[in-house]
Amino acid sequence: MDFQLNEEHLMIQKAARDFAQTECLPGVIERDELQKFPKQQIEKLADLGFMGMMVDPKYGGAGMDAISYVLAMEEVSKVDASVSVAMSVNNSLVCWGLETYCNEEQKQQYLVPLAQGKKDGELYIGAFLLSEPEAGSDATSQRTTAEDMGDHYLLNGTKNWITNGNSASVYLVIAQTDPAKGSHGINAFIVEKNWPGVVVGAKENKMGIRGSDTHSILFNDVKVPKENRIGADGFGFTFAMKTLAGGRIGIASQALGIASGAYELALKYSKERKAFGKEIMHHQAIQFKLADMATKVEAARLLCLKAAWEKDQKKDYTLSSSMAKVFASEAAMWISTEAVQVHGGYGFVKEYHVERLMRDAKITQIYEGTSEVQRIVISRAILK
Ligand code: CAA
Repeated sequence: MDFQLNEEHLMIQKAARDFAQTECLPGVIERDELQKFPKQQIEKLADLGFMGMMVDPKYGGAGMDAISYVLAMEEVSKVDASVSVAMSVNNSLVCWGLETYCNEEQKQQYLVPLAQGKKDGELYIGAFLLSEPEAGSDATSQRTTAEDMGDHYLLNGTKNWITNGNSASVYLVIAQTDPAKGSHGINAFIVEKNWPGVVVGAKENKMGIRGSDTHSILFNDVKVPKENRIGADGFGFTFAMKTLAGGRIGIASQALGIASGAYELALKYSKERKAFGKEIMHHQAIQFKLADMATKVEAARLLCLKAAWEKDQKKDYTLSSSMAKVFASEAAMWISTEAVQVHGGYGFVKEYHVERLMRDAKITQIYEGTSEVQRIVISRAILK
């Protein structure tokens, strides 16, 4: 067993760290305050090849492995989780699903520009539309319908909490085609945002990841060509579950980044701030907090890398990705809360960054499957 990163991994980690420091850190507080989508940052990520990191170069991707993806996600998330969620959704939920399950025509038309993150020089990213007003954790209860009309489907319904909702050009939409068949009557479709009948709803005013643009998306009699269905009839639920397993590695790595970012800020502050005549790092109350933070960060990192390694080895990573996500997201929430505590009053104001990390941490316990859903997945796997 080798716990060392290779030269290439170290280079990618450094590129992501430099990018986060030079491109994301300036303005991150303002973007959070104003809920400003980090368009410039995403465009630059696309130029680095980080919007289609794991896609084969023949489809416009960077051909990197999942380990590299974890390393890059951690570095970007340390500084701006609003940037990293757009990156994660495009890489894991959109590009991976297209590359793994789409036919050659669909790949040429959609995957190639999505993996590059650009089309005709303009930002070109995707979104994954599964959640609905009444179907979040209970993903089989889809109310959005796609009625088979012969040469096309007619799409109607509402999707909620859609990351990249307004900035995406392409939506992967999960919809019910035959309610009598339950999860086997669900299909996935590639839908373009500018098609007639597609309406972008109001932007959500969120607690965290406020720079990320989260919208509801409405479909009113949208004509979806038959050739835009992904896979065989009834494949949609399996498509969603398989895709989400990879997505969970992305969000686990985002949580890891928030956790390690908060820990590093707390460590730095503890060496600068004096109380009772010495730097606070000399007080055991702070030392024990830092020890627990460092241990949880390390454990979260190992779980993320293990899941990514299994993905790279073409093993089943459903269990490991859920374990990584539930652990890393709970670690992120705990560590960021403790980091605020270490900072005292300064932790409660925006200039010190930790309050934002604490707000951003919360969503990692909710999206791409709540902590409760991850425990369903884990317990089913270990009990079967
Ligand atoms: N891989 C392949 N197939 C799977 C699977 C998987 N991981 N999980 C389930 N299936 C199959 C089952 O085998 C079953 O098939 P059969 O009927 O042939 O046996 C079928 O799918 C139905 O499975 P279940 O009966 O297990 O389904 P369930 O209703 O009990 O739900 C669940 C299981 C794990 C709770 C699932 O609904 C789930 O993961 N929910 C959470 C959804 C989620 O993550 N939403 C997040 C939205 S996306 C997002 O947040 C993106 C963003 O913007 C950041």
